Amino acid sequence: MQAKLTAIGTHVPDRVIDNHYFEGIIETSDEWIKSRTGIRERRYTKPNEYTSHIAEQAIRNMADNYGRDLSDVDYIIFATVSHDHIMPSMAAIMQHRFGLKQAAAIDISAACAGFGYGINLAKALIESGLHRKVLVVGAETLSKITDFNDRTSCVLFGDGAGAVLIEAAEESNIGQGISGAEGKYGQDLYLSTHSTMVNGELINASGKIYQNGRKVFKWAVSRMAEQIGVLLEKNQMAVDDIDWFIPHSANMRIIEAICKTAGIPIEKALESISVYGNTSSASIPLAWQLGLEAGKIKKGDKLLILGFGGGLAYAGNIIEWAG
Ligand code: UT7
Repeated sequence: MQAKLTAIGTHVPDRVIDNHYFEGIIETSDEWIKSRTGIRERRYTKPNEYTSHIAEQAIRNMADNYGRDLSDVDYIIFATVSHDHIMPSMAAIMQHRFGLKQAAAIDISAACAGFGYGINLAKALIESGLHRKVLVVGAETLSKITDFNDRTSCVLFGDGAGAVLIEAAEESNIGQGISGAEGKYGQDLYLSTHSTMVNGELINASGKIYQNGRKVFKWAVSRMAEQIGVLLEKNQMAVDDIDWFIPHSANMRIIEAICKTAGIPIEKALESISVYGNTSSASIPLAWQLGLEAGKIKKGDKLLILGFGGGLAYAGNIIEWAG
């Protein structure tokens, strides 16, 4: 049996936060944020609005696009670093909200690579014959775990959610994925609620995201450009065979640098960073949906998705859009 991605849906909260918002909190400017990151605005949830709420809306949007019943979904993979709570899992909450009685439910922790990891796992679950219809969700309320005293990171993050459906079919539209990690850089991007050590370094127990931006930036550009080559080779494809490149939207300058190094024309890159900021596991489905809404992505187009972030971890694949 083959795995086919058949629907996508997204949701962002209503509250728009422009760059001027930060000028009253930290020393920064709209000009710095736009020129160094490409971010013009992002969305924040309300105080009583959590990841489960926006994920639910994204799944509803996906279900509308799918147009068929979801009751035979038999597995839910939920990628997030901003859970409403660690236990029960967000996937189990979705299983209950949608009445998916047959579905197994797990959360995965792969930060900004979570959506790519989820797609690769879903494909494996279906092609092994273990499951037939898998819901993959990437959803975040990063505004709730942002350190507003840290000007190098607080301007970056936003809230948003995306969901895709992957099901058993005669023909696959999902390629051979890549998934990997370099745990030796774990201390360069972390989130912890209690004091502990990562790779021998004591980390801050603030419950907020910390990142060594410059180090992660350099790693992302060099490692991701290399992994694009690995992914293309694994699928016996060339850069020219790709219609749209959908990397994790961490920073517009990272996207431009990856494109330059990997030889991908920047016009082929789809991003969600400019209007939604860095939404971690949700950034790829959000950019994908923006590409659909703009009429760019057409049926049969080949999309190279590539997530990277905390871990440091990465995961990607090549998907032919089913239309
Ligand atoms: O999603 C997970 C993966 N995450 C990433 O991939 C993020 C990777 N990193 C980045 O996107 C960038 O490194 C940042 C956006 C975090 C920072 O941009 P940068 O161009 O690497 O800036 P920098 O850290 O080298 O700092 C340049 C200057 C510094 O001032 P000095 O030391 O040159 O005087 C910073 O203090 O910019 C200053 N700066 C700011 N100035 C105004 C840092 N943040 C701000 C700010 N407003 N918000």
